[in-house]
Amino acid sequence: MRRILLWMARNRWLKEHLPRLWFARRAVRKFMPGETIEAALNAAEEFRPLGIGILLTRLGENLSDLSQAQEVADHYHRVIDLVRARGLDAEVSLKLTQIGLDLDADATYRHLGSLAAHAAEANGTLWIDMEGSAYVDRTLELYRRLKVEHANAGICLQAYLRRTPADVHELLPLQPQVRLVKGAYDEPAEIAFRRRAEVDAAYLSLCVLMLPAAGRGELRLGLGTHDTRLVEQVAAHARAAGQALDTFEVQMLYGIRMDQQRRLAAEGYVVRDLIAYGEAWYAWYMRRLAERPANVWFALRQLVG
Ligand code: FDA
Repeated sequence: MRRILLWMARNRWLKEHLPRLWFARRAVRKFMPGETIEAALNAAEEFRPLGIGILLTRLGENLSDLSQAQEVADHYHRVIDLVRARGLDAEVSLKLTQIGLDLDADATYRHLGSLAAHAAEANGTLWIDMEGSAYVDRTLELYRRLKVEHANAGICLQAYLRRTPADVHELLPLQPQVRLVKGAYDEPAEIAFRRRAEVDAAYLSLCVLMLPAAGRGELRLGLGTHDTRLVEQVAAHARAAGQALDTFEVQMLYGIRMDQQRRLAAEGYVVRDLIAYGEAWYAWYMRRLAERPANVWFALRQLVG
């Protein structure tokens, strides 16, 4: 089921036709409050009294020309201004292919640099998502460049990739900001762990590798996972090392395990909720279904209820 859903995520015909179906539009509302930035910001306000911070991402991936990259960058500049005007604790997270990585790496870097500088004025991090394995080298290369010039740059790393411990070692001297996720793409066994137990073990051991630097304030560690068992294992490691709970933070997606997000925040964990918005939600939504095929039944139930 997971592989079929990930194939569907990449299929062009479905990408064009499925989002027009009303029941798909209704089902996606579980995971996103709306298609506009205003809808996302209004949803963000609801997390403020809970002490839960926000990550904002406009959905959209590969572009066909560079003017679209400029439009995306302009949009994110506006988002940073809107967040500041509302006094929200919200940071931007984007995909490099959204700002032109397939077309021109230097132009992509220029957008990144100006967004990171703007985000720094608002005391926020500019996060870079990690995409499929074909992009990992280029994404890390641009991240390393960016981090030297902008302390407030963050990167997502995927625990399922066998290379990630080596990437962490390479990034540590830069005092990086890292969001560790399990990984959402369909990667071959030569480069990625495919069994859940292996991915979970890799995730925990990467956290154990990064915790000492996080404890010294030399790395910001975000656990981008809904796996509360893993979060609690990481917390136990931190406690055993005499580290406070705010040595790391937990980042989850809007609409997923909201009860756990509230519980963790109430127990003193630093929590951020990632709110996605935008019209190009199809591939992203299919990856959410692939993570938990039970969600397919939820989507189908929208047909009748
Ligand atoms: P796992 O899949 O083991 O789920 C643990 C539990 O959480 C499940 O048992 C279920 O209860 C619940 N759950 C998980 N997913 C669910 C869903 N879709 N619907 C309902 N319940 C669900 N990936 C990537 O490759 N690049 C990236 O840049 C990012 N960015 C990112 C940011 C943030 C903040 C998060 C939370 C995740 C990402 N991801 C990502 C996605 C990540 O790689 C991964 O696919 C998902 O987080 C699902 O894996 P979990 O770690 O949640 O564990």
